[in-house]
Amino acid sequence: MTAVGIDAIEIWTGNLKLDLPGTFAPQKGEDPEKYTKGLGLNASSFPDSYEDIVTMAANAARRLMERKGLEPDDIGRIDVATESAFDNSKPVSTYVAGCLEQVFGSDFHHANKGERKFACIAGTQSLDDAYNWIRAGRNRGRGALVIATDTALYARGDAGEATQGAGAVAMYISEDPSLVELSTDQGYGSADETDFLKPNQQFPSVDGKRSIQVYLARMREALEDYESVAGDVHPDDFTFAPFHTPFPGMVRRAALLAYRHVIRDTSIEDDLAAEIGRQPRAEAFDDDEAYHDALREYMDALKETERYQAWYDATIDPTLTISREVGNWYTGSVHVARASALKTAFEAGRDLTGETLLIGSYGSGAQAEIHAETVQEGWESEIEALDVDEQLDARYELSWADYEEIHDAHNHEMDVDVEEFTTPSDEFVFDGWGRMGERKYRYVE
Ligand code: CAA
Repeated sequence: MTAVGIDAIEIWTGNLKLDLPGTFAPQKGEDPEKYTKGLGLNASSFPDSYEDIVTMAANAARRLMERKGLEPDDIGRIDVATESAFDNSKPVSTYVAGCLEQVFGSDFHHANKGERKFACIAGTQSLDDAYNWIRAGRNRGRGALVIATDTALYARGDAGEATQGAGAVAMYISEDPSLVELSTDQGYGSADETDFLKPNQQFPSVDGKRSIQVYLARMREALEDYESVAGDVHPDDFTFAPFHTPFPGMVRRAALLAYRHVIRDTSIEDDLAAEIGRQPRAEAFDDDEAYHDALREYMDALKETERYQAWYDATIDPTLTISREVGNWYTGSVHVARASALKTAFEAGRDLTGETLLIGSYGSGAQAEIHAETVQEGWESEIEALDVDEQLDARYELSWADYEEIHDAHNHEMDVDVEEFTTPSDEFVFDGWGRMGERKYRYVE
């Protein structure tokens, strides 16, 4: 069977930066270490006043198409995943296509366009749609452009304000991909949950503490479902495990839970038994509370073992390096985590061809999905082409006063006119409103 997967990836960050320990924490009267150590974040990427989900998506897609020498005719579908959309009817992908048509000499009139919504997991669902479309033989030799784009901002004063971010990830999905092949096997954990939602509003209603528990419960369910089709997962089976990363501290929790699950009944559990005992089994307890107390105690001890820490440092930590500097990009976050891991391996001169990644995607509301990916020959040149470090360094750093001024410019319900902090160059910008309330865009040389 021909491999189908991600052929190329491009990342576009919002042009502004908010320093969390240095600028945000002092204003909130909080210890900077809550950010650096607790949440695991140094900074948030923030959109300038001329940026939005369309400009960031179109900028990432343009770079990707130019680098890969793709023309509109090579693209049979454009799917945009976002939870920051501003229109209930016209999909963001039409705006993105309109932008790209300004710089490419031809049009996307024969490409199927859509918009995917299921909170942060919609990016992975769009990859799935592209995969299925190619596997079904309906692609006529063409590939799919999948773009995950969000301005992940929270209301001022909401606890989530600490985890904001803005950026886009564009991916080209094709046969014989150069980056990763997607597995056919998948596992889902999905339930009707009320933890994070945006009922026709741009800034979310969030039950932060509950959202953490829902993430863990659905991820565990997805892992078990994945194992039911792919067989038991063992820590040696995969090189990296990129998870959806609302903030690195969330992944730290998920990783510990996942590790405990996958070492159960393995020689790793046996090896660790002398040091921390064996994992508690539900059948040995009369009541749930005692079982859960014992589990918590085991996890606290597991976290401190050298074995676990070595696994975490090798398998999870490299997925978090970009996220620490950009915050949550919602639909793009898990794709940033994959790129981050591959980039770290590339910089260390490792050869990953043929190795496996275990991907844990998640969207509030809520659904988790697990699948595997196999790194393809050619991955190094795809990762080498990323200029994410340069983009991060070029961001304008917001003062607290700047931040207060610009935050609400990105709430679509409010009419806030803010001067831009940066000067756009070689990128798409928001160019005002049209007569039917549509947003207009133009390319700035
Ligand atoms: N030094 C070291 N660590 C510190 C510290 C200090 N001085 N002060 C606090 N911490 C630690 C805390 O112990 C905590 O870590 P643990 O959870 O590991 O114990 C961490 O820093 C955060 O501290 P708090 O829990 O006190 O922070 P908070 O009350 O401000 O809220 C939050 C944190 C609930 C995650 C909030 O930021 C939030 O609501 N975020 C938005 C929702 C979210 O991201 N949920 C994640 C799951 S849902 C999802 O994944 C979908 C999505 O993208 C939104």
